[in-house]
Amino acid sequence: DWTMESFIEAQVSEIRKRVGKRKVLCALSGGVDSSVAAVLVHRAVGEQLTCVFVDHGFMRKNEAESVKKVFSQKFRLNLIFIDARQRFLDKVGGVSDPEAKRKAIGHEFIRLFEDEARKLGQVDFLVQGTLYPDIVESGTDTAETIKSHHNVGGLPEDMEFELIEPLRLLFKDEVRKVGLSLGLPEEVVWRQPFPGPGLAIRILGEVTEEKLEIVREADAVILEEITGAGLYREVWQSFAVLPSVHSVGVMGDGRTYAYPIVLRAVTSEDAMTADWARLPYELLERISTRIVNEVSGVNRVVYDITTKPPGTIEWE
Ligand code: XMP
Repeated sequence: DWTMESFIEAQVSEIRKRVGKRKVLCALSGGVDSSVAAVLVHRAVGEQLTCVFVDHGFMRKNEAESVKKVFSQKFRLNLIFIDARQRFLDKVGGVSDPEAKRKAIGHEFIRLFEDEARKLGQVDFLVQGTLYPDIVESGTDTAETIKSHHNVGGLPEDMEFELIEPLRLLFKDEVRKVGLSLGLPEEVVWRQPFPGPGLAIRILGEVTEEKLEIVREADAVILEEITGAGLYREVWQSFAVLPSVHSVGVMGDGRTYAYPIVLRAVTSEDAMTADWARLPYELLERISTRIVNEVSGVNRVVYDITTKPPGTIEWE
């Protein structure tokens, strides 16, 4: 795509000129925007860029590993991978209020990020994957004001950086094209949006290791089935939610008393409004059967058929 190629070239030479020999930092989340921004800046300044990825333990199945593989092995960019799973679980365990949970995760994330930044000495620039709609809509995003969205990659408050926002004039579909031109794999470029606090806000109430395991496994089944049905790009988001309640079921000769999984799948243009996806019955059936059979601790699957508004996409 020649327009994307020339966009990339223009950005690369502009970033090079601006940065000179100084250092650049990037918080990588594994999402489309931060990934494309990181790889673009890496093309411009190479070794002068350091990316930090914090594994808070609330990622989806195999996600942290795949970030490591793509960015350190394929692109060979300086990646500081922080395994902070236990730290986050300690901070979040016992917290059941959704906003308190988001704040706890947000604060811990910033602290870890700052610690790493300090170790690097003088860093002058921070990469942000801001898109054009983020700039235009900032301040009018009701989701933003209703929930204190913790955007992983948020700016540490007391550190001073100049921002590099190479995607600030692009829309999402253009970012995807740039990503593909830069050689990012399709599964990164087409990844559905994923909230910064991750699975922690898809477990209602207290987060435990056991519940994380359950929601992660159920999520993996959903991803596999939605992808297999060719619907991954059509739905805006599709995922599992774990309400912390038990219901009675029967399996074999015995009565079970286990968790339900809520399947949430929505279509949307921009996450401001959303509709529940009219998934085929056969697909719903497969997802339900597989989750109940394959994920221990689950005996029921329900489908959320609420639009946004009045529901939100996430349950917390
Ligand atoms: P809601 O649930 O408000 O979500 O309809 C709208 C969009 O925002 C995502 N979301 C978040 N993203 N940190 C994020 O980075 C958060 O705390 C957060 N909460 C919701 C959600 O996945 C959906 O795409």
